[in-house]
Amino acid sequence: MNIATVKASTLKAKPDWNDLGFGKYFTDYMFTMEYTEGTGWHDAKIVPYGPVSLDPGAMVLHYAQEVFEGMKAYRAKDGRILIFRPEMNARRMMRSCDRLVMPQLPEEMFVEAVKAIVAAQKDWVPALPGTTLYIRPFMYADDVVIGVHPGKTYKFVIILTPVGSYYAEGINPVKIHVEEEYVRAAIGGTGFCKCGGNYAASIIAQEKVMKEGYSQVLWLDGAERKYVEEVGTMNVMFKIDGEVWTAPLDGSILPGVTRDSCITILKDWGVHVREELIPIDFLMDAGKSGKLEEAFGVGTAAVISPIGLLRYKGDVVTINDFKTGPLAKKLYDFLTGMQYGDLPDKYGWIHEVK
Ligand code: COI
Repeated sequence: MNIATVKASTLKAKPDWNDLGFGKYFTDYMFTMEYTEGTGWHDAKIVPYGPVSLDPGAMVLHYAQEVFEGMKAYRAKDGRILIFRPEMNARRMMRSCDRLVMPQLPEEMFVEAVKAIVAAQKDWVPALPGTTLYIRPFMYADDVVIGVHPGKTYKFVIILTPVGSYYAEGINPVKIHVEEEYVRAAIGGTGFCKCGGNYAASIIAQEKVMKEGYSQVLWLDGAERKYVEEVGTMNVMFKIDGEVWTAPLDGSILPGVTRDSCITILKDWGVHVREELIPIDFLMDAGKSGKLEEAFGVGTAAVISPIGLLRYKGDVVTINDFKTGPLAKKLYDFLTGMQYGDLPDKYGWIHEVK
């Protein structure tokens, strides 16, 4: 791919690395590329970070043909810049595009674009423990027409933001409300896609419970509201009686890269992983009887986030005395150890950005 560069006239002051929060600061440059029906992808560029022009009639603004991805770049102690399983994000974006009738961006082009923009912004990859450069690739229909049908022109953009932890709680447990009123997705819908629409539909439930001190909601299935799905910002895992349970990839939950990585690692450690439907009543009963030993969310932004408390229909269960459990801690240490280059890359998941 031929990538042109447009130089910025001035560079930004770097943020306070000790107080990054999440998604608040953006780097000097971004990657952009256009798609035109009949021509394909063209005009790959690294340009100064800034507004993109969008006609008020652009299709994405009306019919939400938009998909995105989330990944991170890590600075190793020896200064190397590492990224984690980018091909998984590329493939997931292709599946999201397929469902939303958007053009495919081939895996090699996606990975090359990510590496090119991260390489151009290496000095924005923070070095403090727990900090990373969050990578947000996204694609949207930008042709101008009112009418529901697939767009003919699209833009693919990658922006970068240096981040600390996603939750204010950091690696400390979060409180989760099990949502009974709203649903996030149903089989046959877009639950398995990373598209903005899924997140737009979820905000109302999150807003409702945040006022009560809960960080997120745990979604139940859209048909029966009986089975546990995911927490919108992360997949979830439960250690019950020595086994780890997580919802299966049945089309309504996001196929998380961290989810997949954790399953591989846990199996390697000899932990029995059950990718099965998890009835919420079974989970709450396990909580009450003490069989629910640990619960944690897994995601790129969230990494491994222990869940200390679940509330469902007025019932509350506290998990592991609201403390980070040993398995969550071990997974966190192992996964981030690999991602930051402190541990050997035994699965071939790490790419160095040069
Ligand atoms: C990610 O984990 O990368 C996501 O996109 C989740 C989002 C809520 C930040």
